[in-house]
Amino acid sequence: MAGRILIIGACGQIGTELTLKLREIHGNDQVIASDIREGAEELMTSGPFEILNATDDAHIREVIKEYEVKVVYLMAAMLSATAEKAPMKAWDLNMDSLFHILNIAKEGIIDKIFWPSSIAVFGPTTPKDDTPQTTIMEPTTVYGISKQTGERWCEYFHRKFGVDVRSIRYPGIISYKTLPGGGTTDYAIEIFHEALKHSKYTSFLAEDAALPMMYMDDAIKATIDIMEAPAEKIKVRSSYNLAAISFTPEVLANEIKKHIADFEISYAPDFRQSIAESWPSSIDDTTAREDWGWEPDFDLEKMTTTMLEGVGNTLKENA
Ligand code: SER
Repeated sequence: MAGRILIIGACGQIGTELTLKLREIHGNDQVIASDIREGAEELMTSGPFEILNATDDAHIREVIKEYEVKVVYLMAAMLSATAEKAPMKAWDLNMDSLFHILNIAKEGIIDKIFWPSSIAVFGPTTPKDDTPQTTIMEPTTVYGISKQTGERWCEYFHRKFGVDVRSIRYPGIISYKTLPGGGTTDYAIEIFHEALKHSKYTSFLAEDAALPMMYMDDAIKATIDIMEAPAEKIKVRSSYNLAAISFTPEVLANEIKKHIADFEISYAPDFRQSIAESWPSSIDDTTAREDWGWEPDFDLEKMTTTMLEGVGNTLKENA
């Protein structure tokens, strides 16, 4: 492979598993992990790791130069719930980091960028069910505003300067290896930990809060597939809708009950409920399927059994 890969935000929920998968595919020394803090031991020891602040343009450029990086996955961001508590900090992190990478690509130093967007780009005026690829976008969260703005800039840098930037609107991502931080969809992970530990869970979203979700393996597959697709297949240069599963806390709880009969769920919606209410319930991802062949592998049943097994094993190891 010509040039190495840099993951910025490699210690996060998606970054960790993405880095390990890319190392498996391209070789450990070809994939540089970086984050503002240290992360999982496997990530830190299986290949190069750099402490890197995603807003530090000069340091990003140094690392890119030192390792002869040609492809960047920019996974650092402040998620929806945390961003509401620190709006300006979230804006600075989410936007500055993107501008640095877009400009480095514009200068021809790197060849390709992956930058994730989110279902948070949609808002209360967006059609809620089977939300189309192109539709009304009036996000009401700081995180959503930053992601929507980012999408516009990605498209602009592609159209104006030919920057090869590719993006997906991730739904809530469900995984057990690394915990998420500060998202509205995090309940769908916490519920598994609490179900296995205490057979009960109090959800911070209401029972009928339907949101689009996806198991981690599907998210990683989509990310790598869109990056490996021939450039001419990537017709959308803002960001692609991506869908897998859609469920409410109640539906997920019922699925868990099939495995843990005495599991009980209760509801105490907090400020995250209004964020959830502003987002779509389900997503139409026809364009991603047609353009670069996207197809998910995990349905609710398979995700649930995989999570119960994965979280269960982690709890046993840590006992
Ligand atoms: N999981 C994210 C969040 O809840 C959505 O992109 O913020």
